[in-house]
Amino acid sequence: MRRFIIYLIFVAVIVVAFISWMTIQDKPIEVASPDGNIAVKFYLESGSPYYQVIYNNQVVIDGSRMGFILKGLPALDKDFKIAESHITVFDETWTQPWGEVRKIRNQYNRLILSLEEKSSLHRKLRIEFRVFNDGLAFRYDIPEQPDFNNFIIQDELTEFKLSKDFSAWWIPAYGDEMDQEYLYRQSSLHALTEKVITPLTLAQGDSLFVSIHEAALIDYAGMALEPTNNLTLKCDLYPWSNGDRVVASAPMKTPWRTIQLATQASDLVTSTMILNLNEPNKLGNVSWIKPGKYNGIWWGMHLKKHTWEAGPNHGATTAHAKSMIDFASANNLSGVLVEGWNQGWEGDWTVHGNFSFTKPYPDFDLAAVSRYAKEKNISLIAHHETGGNIANYERQLEDAFKLLQQHDIHYLKTGYVNKLPAGEYHQGQFMVRHYHKVMETAARYHVMVDMHEPVKDTGLRRTYPNLMTREGVRGTEYEAWSDGNPASHTTILPFTRGLSGPIDYTPGIFDILFDPDSKFRVHTTLAKQLALYVVIYSPLHMAADLPENYVNQPAFKFIQDVPTDWDVTRVIDGEIGEFITTVRKDRNSNDWYLGSITNEKSRTMEVKLDFLSPGKKYNAEIYQDGKDADVEKNPLPVEIRSEVVNGNTILTLRLAPGGGTAIRFSEIK
Ligand code: NOJ
Ligand code: CA
Repeated sequence: MRRFIIYLIFVAVIVVAFISWMTIQDKPIEVASPDGNIAVKFYLESGSPYYQVIYNNQVVIDGSRMGFILKGLPALDKDFKIAESHITVFDETWTQPWGEVRKIRNQYNRLILSLEEKSSLHRKLRIEFRVFNDGLAFRYDIPEQPDFNNFIIQDELTEFKLSKDFSAWWIPAYGDEMDQEYLYRQSSLHALTEKVITPLTLAQGDSLFVSIHEAALIDYAGMALEPTNNLTLKCDLYPWSNGDRVVASAPMKTPWRTIQLATQASDLVTSTMILNLNEPNKLGNVSWIKPGKYNGIWWGMHLKKHTWEAGPNHGATTAHAKSMIDFASANNLSGVLVEGWNQGWEGDWTVHGNFSFTKPYPDFDLAAVSRYAKEKNISLIAHHETGGNIANYERQLEDAFKLLQQHDIHYLKTGYVNKLPAGEYHQGQFMVRHYHKVMETAARYHVMVDMHEPVKDTGLRRTYPNLMTREGVRGTEYEAWSDGNPASHTTILPFTRGLSGPIDYTPGIFDILFDPDSKFRVHTTLAKQLALYVVIYSPLHMAADLPENYVNQPAFKFIQDVPTDWDVTRVIDGEIGEFITTVRKDRNSNDWYLGSITNEKSRTMEVKLDFLSPGKKYNAEIYQDGKDADVEKNPLPVEIRSEVVNGNTILTLRLAPGGGTAIRFSEIK
């Protein structure tokens, strides 16, 4: 009997120990942001991993699933125990070689979890959370382990279960050739039925803003978000043509799943979290990488005045390129883009994409043009349009870059118009690998890249600063041959697409009504075209119009003056889809620049100039919508005036419907 009681006590102790161990196992592990305003809870529910996000004491993301479905293997999503967990702190300040700000603080608290399957497989999965003051991120890390080396991810189960309804600005993730080049739509989250691209920006009234995106997308598939049920968005990876999502081998780290959080929309814009989640510069000395402004043989083709292919109206002739170089050099631009220089544009290149990347057209003397550019201290920007024919481009890649090297060309614009062969997606792993290869090859040849029809930006410019800018947006080209971009479009972009990184929007069209006989036109006032240089961030900005449209235009001085490399950036105020006012300080002087734009509504706003250095006087050169300016009826008038201001001045900005204001503040010494 005694032995039986001892036995019972022994069993009871084991059971209690086991239960409390289980509870420890399932007890949430919490990590907070350095300022304590964001908390992330991780927990296992019946062995499946979940996370929850609390911001300013409110649950913003409720218990959301994590894990993977694998091809031909049991799913990696349940039956886990927490083998180990620890929390560490991190704080560094790093310098961007170029950018919208010079110094970036990278401060977060980190939770690293090692999970292990309790089943016979005993597979290991690590999850790392980083919690910043302006958001959080997590990624999966599959370490090297026996019997689990090569695998195919069929589905990533990551969810974002929003706790309440939000207003969402979204673009459908059709994955077609237009990809990120749609207009944003707005609806409530609960009404969202389509799969959407990221960044996805969400707002609750005017006090809670969330943006879901990803950082450091390398050798993985891009993430779209699929509304599943009840305010839940699920990670949906763009597949390979055979349906697989990710082909992987351990050790493997996924991209970071990012959630930016803010109490005002403008704070989303200046967050550097995505950059911080990328690895530091891998290229060593990057003094050869230089921001700049460019014009080029481009808009004329979109207006159908010139052609890409050779013929009577060929754009890329030696003489035309030289005249562009003359214009750039006389007008404080640093580069000239030449599209249509290479053979292969005949017929429907968007279908065949059979370009040569080494053979210029006979009327384009590459050696003479590059020599001339050099004499004039202008950088040529080469162009590689692939038409989506990746195999054709990769076959010629090394030779193409050798040609650039031979002519001392250090800038390249690439293009991926059209659907990709064999059903691959621009955002799938196939293309993520391709874009990476081009970027790395470019770095080897000291070439800076501007990608059109790119993979989405996930902050890789921190690691590869030669990856300067990209399109991935419905830019100015759409104004030439489609319904164009409504006035609200550019007031949405800084809060959505702009959160991922620089945008080659190609602003600067002065001939707003370029063809009064057609329905095509630019949907801004002229002053707003100027303001876009400040509001939209890109280290390479185009002065996109034909040179003749800048002649005798006093407003062109703003484009000549405005820098593309900044020390400081602040968003003074803004409302998604309504207006935004941004100020930036030049990296190479004490000058500040302001850009303010509005949607179709006119606005009067007071701006405090308290960003200017105290005790200093500045000359404000103001370019504003002229009398009776109106995007619809009267887009051209610009009023240019000067005013002496200081940090105590309050300026009144008056923006016409579809208008804007651009200001240069230069210090009076
Ligand atoms: C689309 C690009 O966005 C545009 O800038 C370029 O001119 C054409 N493709 C041709 O490559
Ligand atoms: Ca495009």
